[in-house]
Amino acid sequence: MRLKLDQKKMTEEEAELLAKIDLSKLPKHVAIIMDGNGRWASKRHLPRISGHQRGIRSVREIITFAREIGVKHLTLYAFSNENWSRPIKEVSRLMILLENYLIRELDTMMSNGIRFRAIGQIDRLQSSVSKLIQSVEEKTKQNDKMTLVLALSYGGRTEIVDAVKKVAEAIQKEQISLKDLDETLFSTYLYTDDLPDPDLMIRTSGEIRISNFFLWQVAYTELYFTKTLWPDFRKRDFLLALLDYQGRERRFGLVSGKSSVSYSEKQIEGLI
Ligand code: IPE
Ligand code: IPE
Ligand code: MG
Repeated sequence: MRLKLDQKKMTEEEAELLAKIDLSKLPKHVAIIMDGNGRWASKRHLPRISGHQRGIRSVREIITFAREIGVKHLTLYAFSNENWSRPIKEVSRLMILLENYLIRELDTMMSNGIRFRAIGQIDRLQSSVSKLIQSVEEKTKQNDKMTLVLALSYGGRTEIVDAVKKVAEAIQKEQISLKDLDETLFSTYLYTDDLPDPDLMIRTSGEIRISNFFLWQVAYTELYFTKTLWPDFRKRDFLLALLDYQGRERRFGLVSGKSSVSYSEKQIEGLI
């Protein structure tokens, strides 16, 4: 598979890394926990918000690059439920950054065929921001090259509890029956109902934890941790994560190299 990329925008190292990647076996859905903005700023004796501002550069670069190489879904964890408890000044500056980002990036999303989605408790956001989100979702809904998902005011446990409430309501209204409830049906009540589970999850900044992200969805996701702080995360780092991912064997509980045949209990009894 050949790719028409603007080579001028890539360093030699990035071009070499890209050449090693099998573009027909890219993860369909990549999720990123963008962490380390505050530490990036503190290291430079700057206010934390400067780290968030710098982080937007990485956001732009990674979205454009993921779209160019053919990743179909990209989820960025931008603001957690727990992040609401940060100092009010940081929270409000983050909201302004988000608002400006969405206003500025709409044209780019349209010209690159990017569909925008926000997941989380969006109604907790300031009404001007939640209205803007709705309008960007509406305007980009026909775009089909890549889905960009922003997890905002998001918590994995809340998502599961919200899904349980919706399921209970659907049972009460006799829209579904309890006996039909299985993993596939349950997952349609999650915020990610129209998205595949992530194949690869990246966390920057050296923290080795999930921080309440995609708790249901990461059951079989490949996890990749890098010490790079989010504002320093570039195409090169993304390519390194993809290469690492492509070197792994995803077994999904099966035996290495064997196909996924399941035997009935009777057949197993016969084998013993
Ligand atoms: C991640 O960077 C961005 C958000 C959580 C909004 P942090 O702000 O958590 O940066 P560190 O972890 O303090 O360095
Ligand atoms: C996770 O980062 C949330 C986002 C990146 C949006 P945090 O910085 O909030 O997570 P902890 O506190 O280190 O676990
Ligand atoms: Mg952090």
